[in-house]
Amino acid sequence: MLFSLIGLAVAVLGNTHSVAASHNDVEGLYSLVQRRIPAHAGAFTFKLSSGNSSNVTDTFTLSDQISATTQAGGAKILVECSTISACARGLYTYVTEFGGVDIWWTGSRLNELPSELPSVGQPVTRSSLVPYRYHFNTVTFSYTAAFYNFDDWSLLLDWLALRGVNLPLAWVGNEYILVQVFREAGLSDADIATFLSGPAFQAWNRFGNIQASWGGDLPEQWINDQFALQKQIISRMVELGMTPVLPSFTGFVPRAMHTLYPNASIVNGSQWNGFTIQYTNDSFLEPFDPLFSTLQTSFISKQVAAYGNVSHVYTLDQYNENSPYSGDTSYLANVTAATFASLRAADPQAVWLMQGWLFYSDSTFWTTERVEAYLGGVPGNDSMIILDLYSEAQPQWQRLNSYFGKQWIWCELHDYGGNMGFEGNFENVTTQPIKALATPGNSMVGMGLTMEGQEGNEIIYDVLLDQAWSSTPLNRTAYISAWASRRYNVPDLPTAALEAWEILGATVYNNQDVTTQSTVKSILELSPSITGLVNRTGTHSTKLFYDTNTTIVPALKLLLQARQEASALSNIPEFQYDVVDVTRQLLANRFIDLYTSLIDTFSSTSSSSSAVSAAGAPLLALLQDLDSVLLTDTHFLLARWISAARNWTHGDNATYAAYLEYNARNQVTLWGPRGEVNDYASKQWGGLVGTYYVQRWETFVGYLAGSKENATVYNVSAVADMMLDIGLRWDSEVWGQTKNQTWGTVSSTWDVVQQLVERWA
Ligand SMILES: *[C@@H]1O[C@H](CO)[C@@H](O)[C@H](O)[C@H]1NC(C)=O
Ligand SMILES: *[C@@H]1O[C@H](CO)[C@@H](O)[C@H](O)[C@H]1NC(C)=O
Ligand SMILES: *[C@@H]1O[C@H](CO)[C@@H](O)[C@H](O)[C@H]1NC(C)=O
Ligand SMILES: *[C@@H]1O[C@H](CO)[C@@H](O)[C@H](O)[C@H]1NC(C)=O
Ligand SMILES: *[C@@H]1O[C@H](CO)[C@@H](O)[C@H](O)[C@H]1NC(C)=O
Ligand SMILES: *[C@@H]1O[C@H](CO)[C@@H](O)[C@H](O)[C@H]1NC(C)=O
Ligand SMILES: *[C@@H]1O[C@H](CO)[C@@H](O)[C@H](O)[C@H]1NC(C)=O
Ligand SMILES: *[C@@H]1O[C@H](CO)[C@@H](O)[C@H](O)[C@H]1NC(C)=O
Ligand SMILES: *[C@@H]1O[C@H](CO)[C@@H](O)[C@H](O)[C@H]1NC(C)=O
Ligand SMILES: *[C@@H]1O[C@H](CO)[C@@H](O)[C@H](O)[C@H]1NC(C)=O
Ligand SMILES: *[C@@H]1O[C@H](CO)[C@@H](O)[C@H](O)[C@H]1NC(C)=O
Ligand SMILES: *[C@@H]1O[C@H](CO)[C@@H](O)[C@H](O)[C@H]1NC(C)=O
Repeated sequence: MLFSLIGLAVAVLGNTHSVAASHNDVEGLYSLVQRRIPAHAGAFTFKLSSGNSSNVTDTFTLSDQISATTQAGGAKILVECSTISACARGLYTYVTEFGGVDIWWTGSRLNELPSELPSVGQPVTRSSLVPYRYHFNTVTFSYTAAFYNFDDWSLLLDWLALRGVNLPLAWVGNEYILVQVFREAGLSDADIATFLSGPAFQAWNRFGNIQASWGGDLPEQWINDQFALQKQIISRMVELGMTPVLPSFTGFVPRAMHTLYPNASIVNGSQWNGFTIQYTNDSFLEPFDPLFSTLQTSFISKQVAAYGNVSHVYTLDQYNENSPYSGDTSYLANVTAATFASLRAADPQAVWLMQGWLFYSDSTFWTTERVEAYLGGVPGNDSMIILDLYSEAQPQWQRLNSYFGKQWIWCELHDYGGNMGFEGNFENVTTQPIKALATPGNSMVGMGLTMEGQEGNEIIYDVLLDQAWSSTPLNRTAYISAWASRRYNVPDLPTAALEAWEILGATVYNNQDVTTQSTVKSILELSPSITGLVNRTGTHSTKLFYDTNTTIVPALKLLLQARQEASALSNIPEFQYDVVDVTRQLLANRFIDLYTSLIDTFSSTSSSSSAVSAAGAPLLALLQDLDSVLLTDTHFLLARWISAARNWTHGDNATYAAYLEYNARNQVTLWGPRGEVNDYASKQWGGLVGTYYVQRWETFVGYLAGSKENATVYNVSAVADMMLDIGLRWDSEVWGQTKNQTWGTVSSTWDVVQQLVERWA
């Protein structure tokens, strides 16, 4: 085909970062165009310039190909760039700013480019502010991507590549390599099985927070399938100009390692979140033990054999929510010196990347002296990259003296546990990275996203990745208007739709309240209780920082008005998604008022049992309403999460399917065999609200009414036990086995939303 010949002919050596794979052709970009914009496959030419290899940032130039502008199909576009990633960003700039289309988490709409491509006119040249655009938190691999198949990955990787991400984390399939390393060290499969965690919980096993798999051992089929998936992911990342950040040997080992190597220096990691010892206190092989380096070399050489020589950047976290054996600065420096030496022994160009969450979450332990010692154990400044994980609200780089010269990345954390509440800090995301870069002596080298889960609030992620290509803070009103216009790509988009987004942008996405940053959780997802739910602040806040009546309500009404004016909006999947999402937030917020009046009624000494039941009724009705609107859109279905999990059986193994389903259910509810991290990863999904939250609140209302009737005292632990019981039973259910459950959506969004607006707005 012609386009691929052009690609080969013009591909010349570009400037790659020293840590990147030497992958220097733009074939992957032609494949992306073929995949997403087949109707215009011949319209784009990518050209890597030989460039200035001392340029640290990436640059692209978009222009019209003069000789080709008059051909059918409109303009022909030339994208010249310093790196493959810059070319991808150049293509993105064209499709969004000239073509008016975008690719979303809900799907690619790039094929809706005009049939006559608009020309660029005056060439457009842009550079990234920073050499690295980073993506992922270790836990995103469990909260969002645990059950992703390659189609899901393909969409997300195109989303990332086009936005200019060049340094993504790549954790999938880690266990395959690790098992080979452990077997080689002499551990039996039974020993290894007591260490590996289940499909929905691998992130925390990788962090050394937990071990073992509740509900049954991790099946070998899972390990093999994920390894095969990782090969596809890695090769796609490389082909799109990204340097995958690969796993390495961290030091966390099965307990039997101690029996096998009695002289090895192995210490206990800390207990995590109330798990019993079987599931936590992971054994940690200390890095200065010679065995550590042996296992590191084994791990990295197996990984290179599996994926090729594609990256020199390794993710390695030892003390994420895990306490070091000693706080002595000499000990901490020793740990990092030995860890880094093991990486360099295995890969002479190794760069160590770590998440900086611990420096915030355990700032009492991690004093500046200890951090200086810990980072100082690693020689040189280019040898490490630290993710300043929560830069939009709790940056640590100032306190830690720009990580004492080590490279670091400004990261937007934003979301805990993949919770879905509306929140965003537009102001800080657009201004603070620029301020940080302008700070004398800073060692910031990147900007990125470290969300725990990707569930909604997509705009606030887009903003950061776009800000990475603009040296002045993005103008909020202009940005949001352009964003909404291409999200709802219909002719003559009614201004009502833009007004809706203007309201959301100025309020829920411009959160200035320092006590409710990152995530606002809806209390309906929390285990029912008469105290402690409303107005929480801090890490998992429930306090609303905005007034629903002047934000969510008018935004929803304006969106519905826009649909009245332009019926084509009904067929835009992102429009439907947003209407469901805003309706969801409306009902979730109204729940707080109903809950408060239930508790007021219960607390009043004069109220009767039937008055309590009556106060509980609207709250239960609201949950049924919420479930019904969520069930109208495929992106809000519990069924989607469970079916993605069960799909990994590739066939007819009911035991394996039930194990996967248990993992999926347990993560979003009890999170642990007995509710150890209860409701942390809660979701507002159709099917979850209707069968789980409704059940809990029904039981709670019944209990309150019952205790009024019998004049018994509210018993905190009795309520908690009832709720745990509901969780244990719900987690072990199998889809469709005892209930008539469908995998798909039911009824039309528009019919349901109209009723709910009348009822709750
Ligand atoms: C290097 O960066 C400068 C601006 O800093 C830019 O003008 C030039 O085009 C870049 N060169 C390449 C090859 O990217
Ligand atoms: C190459 O880029 C570096 C850093 O951006 C700059 O200092 C230098 O002048 C550039 N050289 C050329 C030949 O453009
Ligand atoms: C452990 O150390 C002791 C004492 O130094 C030594 O006698 C023994 O052989 C070592 N065992 C192993 C398995 O290396
Ligand atoms: C680290 O500590 C161990 C054990 O005390 C010691 O053998 C080793 O030499 C130390 N290594 C470094 C790099 O300080
Ligand atoms: C915005 O960032 C600044 C500087 O890091 C910080 O002091 C402030 O608290 C942040 N604002 C919010 C609302 O988190
Ligand atoms: C931001 O953009 C809006 C709309 O395009 C414009 O009215 C406003 O003046 C801009 N604000 C700044 C500070 O540039
Ligand atoms: C929560 O905060 C709001 C606003 O400050 C206040 O009106 C309300 O009474 C508080 N509710 C509870 C249960 O504390
Ligand atoms: C918001 O609107 C609801 C429904 O109309 C009303 O009951 C409530 O009092 C209003 N709340 C505020 C704070 O205005
Ligand atoms: C599960 O697999 C079926 C059949 O291959 C497919 O139709 C469905 O989309 C998959 N579901 C998910 C959530 O991946
Ligand atoms: C079904 O999966 C389980 C792992 O969960 C495995 O042990 C078993 O062998 C599988 N059965 C068949 C028939 O493949
Ligand atoms: C109280 O009343 C409820 C019915 O409302 C009943 O089920 C329960 O057994 C009674 N006793 C206690 C101790 O709750
Ligand atoms: C299951 O529910 C669907 C949709 O409500 C209905 O069409 C079907 O008849 C039901 N099947 C059974 C066995 O109840």
